[in-house]
Amino acid sequence: MDKKTILVTGGCGFIGSNFIRYMLKKYPYNIINLDKLTYAGNLENLKDIEKDERYRFIKADIGNKNEIDKVFEENEIYGVINFAAESHVDRSIMDADAFIKTNINGTFNILDIVKRKGIEVFVQISTDEVYGSLGPEGKFKEDTPLSPNSPYSASKASADLLVLAYQHTFGIPAVITRCSNNYGPYQFPEKLIPLMITNALADMELPVYGDGLNIRDWIHVEDHCEAIDLVFHKGKPGNVYNIGGENERTNIEIVRLILDILGKPHSLIKFVKDRPGHDRRYAIDCTKIKKELGFVIKKDFKKGMEDTVKWYIENRTWWERIKSGAYLEYYEKMYKNR
Ligand code: NAD
Ligand code: DAU
Repeated sequence: MDKKTILVTGGCGFIGSNFIRYMLKKYPYNIINLDKLTYAGNLENLKDIEKDERYRFIKADIGNKNEIDKVFEENEIYGVINFAAESHVDRSIMDADAFIKTNINGTFNILDIVKRKGIEVFVQISTDEVYGSLGPEGKFKEDTPLSPNSPYSASKASADLLVLAYQHTFGIPAVITRCSNNYGPYQFPEKLIPLMITNALADMELPVYGDGLNIRDWIHVEDHCEAIDLVFHKGKPGNVYNIGGENERTNIEIVRLILDILGKPHSLIKFVKDRPGHDRRYAIDCTKIKKELGFVIKKDFKKGMEDTVKWYIENRTWWERIKSGAYLEYYEKMYKNR
């Protein structure tokens, strides 16, 4: 395979950084990582590969058309994978402005340049949240109607519709992935699993929303990266691929598991006021990507969680630096009086 250049947006975040590391290890591609470095973007996530001659970081905002156009003018780009997004539901409930600018306008800017430049592959990293919430039965399939409930998921659904419209009207080679909840190393410690691990390590309360019985379908980030690799290389333009871990768990089950792995008491759990509009259950039917692209879920959940807890124990400096910064302000606003 020749040394083509792939542009990854949002590569300093949780999934993007895991994906860049995975791709550099597996393929000879050059990778440009375009990231705005918001509160969630951390150059330290890729410290181990920053000197790799096939890797380059560019600080830019996908919401800024001029900045994006410049990157495409100055580089010969073969494929684009768009991870860049505001990704936290709770933040979108506090203030949705950045979600509209990045997730909708930013995706539009990328689509437009992909069309103008005749880029050969475009993957939009979307989410299962665009389908809304499930009752006790059934699973999300690719043709489940979109019914997003939060400003975050509505912004992601809007982007999906733009991607599909651009593919349909202009024939751009676009595919969409919709994955369930990821866990693993380098996840920002305001999302459920890293928040609970880091709070438990500090003997702080573990804030569980509502009755703790909301269900998510958890997948290890490495399995998600493998699925994106398959979609990037083998996905059919205009198609949507669901990705999931076939691993439904209630939030309280996850929190108790973390405490058990750490040998900490369940008395650290504190039930707090529910998230407004909180989706009850997500579950992904990923038959399509398994059958058509050969996706296999590899990581065992219990082992994956033990490895993840171990990673946070061994990388205390990484998350302590985050938690001592701007994150503290957010934490105050979010959990005070809750
Ligand atoms: P994250 O919040 O950890 O990282 C997002 C990254 O995007 C950060 O590095 C941030 O600096 C960057 N970014 C934000 N706005 C930008 C902008 N305007 N221009 C350039 N860069 C910008 O998110 P994540 O959890 O890694 O999620 C990555 C993608 O995967 C998102 O599109 C998200 O919707 C999707 N997704 C996430 C999950 C999950 O469980 N985390 C599951 C399914 C899909
Ligand atoms: O399903 C995919 C989505 O998963 C992605 O699109 C999002 O980017 C990602 O953030 C994630 O969204 P969730 O809202 O499901 O993730 P979060 O970690 O915020 O919450 C997981 C569950 O845990 C949810 O039911 C809310 C609950 N929760 C979360 C936090 C932060 C708590 O009970 N307490 C908490 O403090």
